[in-house]
Amino acid sequence: MTTDTVSHRLDWIQEEIQQLKDSGLYNQIRTLSSPQGAWLIVDGKKVLNFCSNNYLGLANHPKLVEAVRQAMQTHGVGPAAVRSIAGTMDLHTQLEARLAAFKGVEAAITFQSGFNANLATIPALVGKEDAIFSDELNHASIIDGCRLSRAPIIRFQHADAGDLERVLKTERSKYRRALVVTDGVFSMDGDIAPLDRIYAVTRQYEALLMVDDAHGEGVLGRGGRGIVDHFNLHGKVDIEVGTLSKAFGVVGGVVAGNPLVVEWLRQRGRPFLFSSAMTVPDVAACLAAVDLLESSTELVDRLWDNANYFKTEMGKLGFDTGLSVTPITPVMLGEAQLAQEFSRQLFQNSVFAMAIGYPTVPQGKARIRVMISAAHNRDDLDLGLQAFATVGRNLGVIS
Ligand SMILES: Cc1ncc(COP(=O)(O)O)c(C=O)c1O
Repeated sequence: MTTDTVSHRLDWIQEEIQQLKDSGLYNQIRTLSSPQGAWLIVDGKKVLNFCSNNYLGLANHPKLVEAVRQAMQTHGVGPAAVRSIAGTMDLHTQLEARLAAFKGVEAAITFQSGFNANLATIPALVGKEDAIFSDELNHASIIDGCRLSRAPIIRFQHADAGDLERVLKTERSKYRRALVVTDGVFSMDGDIAPLDRIYAVTRQYEALLMVDDAHGEGVLGRGGRGIVDHFNLHGKVDIEVGTLSKAFGVVGGVVAGNPLVVEWLRQRGRPFLFSSAMTVPDVAACLAAVDLLESSTELVDRLWDNANYFKTEMGKLGFDTGLSVTPITPVMLGEAQLAQEFSRQLFQNSVFAMAIGYPTVPQGKARIRVMISAAHNRDDLDLGLQAFATVGRNLGVIS
């Protein structure tokens, strides 16, 4: 088949792409040729990694790699089926039991990704006659899950339990069921939802409470047990979504909490029913990650030491790191072009930290987002700080 050169039916894509390029919003996708770690080979160059969600350095941990090797000998590679037909292996049920025990809940169910966990959960819980009360800065996967449910979406101001109460007061009684949903840690700002206050308001109005703790799993709470543990809300949050793709260093999603919700998701969670199960290597690696998290808090402690050090030193240099109270460190720059140029110059200085612009963050709030990891040592962090100082002065961001 030859390419159709006469038709102009795809010209609009070319125009849109050009607009993205002109406004500094075009995704330049870089290619890694090394495992994840403090240092990477990116586009052939060795660079300090300030980009990955590899919070605990597990993505290339020898114990995870060995667990995968062993599991492939006993279970092969692919599940070759959805969970509800022939795709549930003993490894899946073991992982679910281990995750539930780790998080101190009665039941857990896994999905192929955190994104899928949200797409599975929200439409299974609410429909057209119900309402969703959603933080205005919730992650795209929550937004898509809400849209798929066809329930009206009522947004409340970011991390504002008072505003949630205001909208529940006026709107709740118009609907059959209500779901309040929030990110736990907000991935672009690194701030934390006030889950204790959100819980109190939610209970008053007979609504279900769901938190997506993608960036809190393995990070917040005792030994990385997540946001519910951080706020000591055990047994009070109906649905805690997590991802196994960030601190766990693998890929996958989990819903932990009420056993009735978990049972319902096995019946009605569409990605569980209609998309193949997590692969054997994924599940085996996640089991090894739970072993590590349960055996010691060392990696979680190191992550927080590194994050506190980096943020303090960035503040001393004069950078604005926004609202962050977690290892996610936004370096606020404003315009997308400046953020892209900053990232380009960091790369020249052997530091890989991506610029983030609209629509991932609001217009005019472009930034470099630094992801700190337990894999970094003090020399790595100092080298990164030095590069930020050089580029920041060069571009007039700091004096
Ligand atoms: C809040 C939140 N939810 C869900 C996801 C998706 O997780 P996963 O990468 O496992 O699909 C992310 C990842 O970017 C996230 O930040």
